[in-house]
Amino acid sequence: MSLLSAPSSTTAGSEPTGSGPTGSGPTGSGPAAPGAAPSAEQALRPHAEDSFADELVALAAADDRTRPARWKLSPWAVATYLLGGTLPDGTVITPKYVGPRRIVEVAVTTLATDRALLLLGVPGTAKTWLSEHLAAAISGDSTLLVQGTAGTPEEAIRYGWNYAQLLTHGPSTDALVHSPVMRAMAEGRIARVEELTRIPADVQDTLITILSEKTLPIPELGSETQAVRGFNLIATANDRDRGVNELSSALRRRFNTVVLPLPATAEEEVDIVSRRVDQLGRGLDLPVAPRGAEEIRRVVTVFRELRAGVTEDGRTKVKSPSGTLSTAEAISVVTGGLALAAHFGDGVLRAGDTAAGILGAVVRDPAADRLVWQEYLETVVRQRDGWKDFYRACREVSA
Ligand SMILES: Nc1ncnc2c1ncn2[C@@H]1O[C@H](COP(=O)(O)OP(=O)(O)OP(=O)(O)O)[C@@H](O)[C@H]1O
Ligand SMILES: [Mg+2]
Repeated sequence: MSLLSAPSSTTAGSEPTGSGPTGSGPTGSGPAAPGAAPSAEQALRPHAEDSFADELVALAAADDRTRPARWKLSPWAVATYLLGGTLPDGTVITPKYVGPRRIVEVAVTTLATDRALLLLGVPGTAKTWLSEHLAAAISGDSTLLVQGTAGTPEEAIRYGWNYAQLLTHGPSTDALVHSPVMRAMAEGRIARVEELTRIPADVQDTLITILSEKTLPIPELGSETQAVRGFNLIATANDRDRGVNELSSALRRRFNTVVLPLPATAEEEVDIVSRRVDQLGRGLDLPVAPRGAEEIRRVVTVFRELRAGVTEDGRTKVKSPSGTLSTAEAISVVTGGLALAAHFGDGVLRAGDTAAGILGAVVRDPAADRLVWQEYLETVVRQRDGWKDFYRACREVSA
């Protein structure tokens, strides 16, 4: 038993409504006190259910299909929330996940069955992103989250004890510190476990009883927490961690595995990057950069070619670097470039703003990757029509 001193619950409803604490900024909307939830506008990264609250309300109003117990929306409406669409009243639902419709449909329906959902894929294929949005749309709460690491203890999945209470009153319901999974069971919501395969195997196996018996025994109190209908669990696991802590076959059987693919086409990837960069840029108060689309296409092309080991036209083979060059990294490179252009340039996103970011993403191993990059620059980038500025910018930062 390890010591957990405070429950990890996030208290809803305590957000500041404009009048900040004494001595706050002139606008009067000071920062939230530590521990209190900031408003959706103040939060650096609002939860999905807050960012897209309007869409979720509109979907719930338009949704006349059957909803599984305690689901905020029907499976059809959840899929529409994820894939985007237009409602009969004209409300536009923005796509959150760009990819095969079937994948989303299978993921959503799995959560309405008694099997849990395992999202598997290479880094940056939106496993975490999809899991957050699924939980937000189904339960209206994406915060019941356990982050898997090599040091994740059993208490993070089951429950812990508030030692002050335990010492004064002995084991009691009040001394119990509920894990996010336990809360999801009690409330009939979706729990999330990130990076399941990084968690030590014996701790992973704690999930077996929860997922097969749908109950969490509390031997110290002679009681149990039974899962309420609506409870289910989404786990994510990275392909690259395969073999680190392989799932036991007993646990694997409790999951329906959905493999998330890399974006099929360059257009799809450009679309994903543009949408996300736009959202992130607004969150960081970055101005919209003209000509951004062209640079985004260039970053995506470089990433895809190096990932695939061949140029887009299929004519030239190139070596792949050791990094993953995921869509998520492309998003970071472009957002970083936009910030450079906004703060130190004239606001127009240019090759010079993305070159350093690309170099950082490609050259992970200073020796081997640098050679791969130089070769790509000289054999592909240099020859390409309209890429002179990009070649020059890359040469400058590589020097
Ligand atoms: N197919 C996609 N549709 C929409 N967004 C995507 C897609 N692929 C990647 N993204 C974007 O990439 C970003 C990173 O995704 P996320 O962190 O969920 O990846 P991950 O699969 O969990 O990676 P890791 O294995 O490193 O944890 C998100 O901002 C998401 O918007
Ligand atoms: Mg992830």
